[in-house]
Amino acid sequence: MRKKLIVGNWKMHFDTHRASLYLHELTRTVKAHRDVEVVLCPNFLALQSLSLQVDHSKFKLGAQNCYWRDEGAYTGEVSATMLRGVVTHVIVGHSERRHVFGETDREVRHKTQAVLRNGLTPIVCIGETASERSANETHDVIQGQLTAALANVTSEEISRVVVSYEPVWAISSGTDYQNHPVASPAEVGRLARQIRSIVKSLYGKAAADSLRVLYGGSSNTDNAAGYLEVKGIDGLLVGGASLNAVEFVRIVETAARQAGKQQETVDG
Ligand code: PGA
Repeated sequence: MRKKLIVGNWKMHFDTHRASLYLHELTRTVKAHRDVEVVLCPNFLALQSLSLQVDHSKFKLGAQNCYWRDEGAYTGEVSATMLRGVVTHVIVGHSERRHVFGETDREVRHKTQAVLRNGLTPIVCIGETASERSANETHDVIQGQLTAALANVTSEEISRVVVSYEPVWAISSGTDYQNHPVASPAEVGRLARQIRSIVKSLYGKAAADSLRVLYGGSSNTDNAAGYLEVKGIDGLLVGGASLNAVEFVRIVETAARQAGKQQETVDG
């Protein structure tokens, strides 16, 4: 059974002090669940100190981005090599990287490779914009972005890749996550099937069956269960709601409940 994965993307929120206090609060309130992996992604600056504070039985740490060269004259960048030993996961190709910072499919491919080369897990984000959606281009966009990101990933490496389907139009800009449009669970389920079938055509059935596919876009306590009960959606990449301990803890609990139900079906 694929383990559920809940990723908290704190984006550019919380300075180092606040991040530390917040992690303390989460550590107090989040229970460790055998069937749920929880990855927290603070800003680069906070990562180092949080890596010393984090309770590894409850959380893993992830970076929100990285550069694809291992070292060199690249002012302002942080490489996957530098993240080794600090994080286990790196978000790659988040829509804000693509659309605010102009990151291309080629860069996403290089970054995915760099993360894997450095022994870390890439969480590769793909998703269509509102206009691509209204032009019925969602499937082509997903196909294009995913094949580009995986272009140099070997059949051994694919088992470490996580894919997050994140329709750009559904991603909140912070605190509006509760009233923001979201993709329906059925729609996300369809896209998760498409993602798995692309991976199947590239790497075979076993790779597709073990691939974890997440949804990201204004997920919160009210809608989390709806996604997590869809077969083929293995977790959530949570932005706005991950900044609120009460919300985030509930989402983790929802994932644990769902994992428990699925385990009963497997056992039963
Ligand atoms: P959101 O962010 O939950 O605030 O929409 C999701 C994301 O970071 O992809």
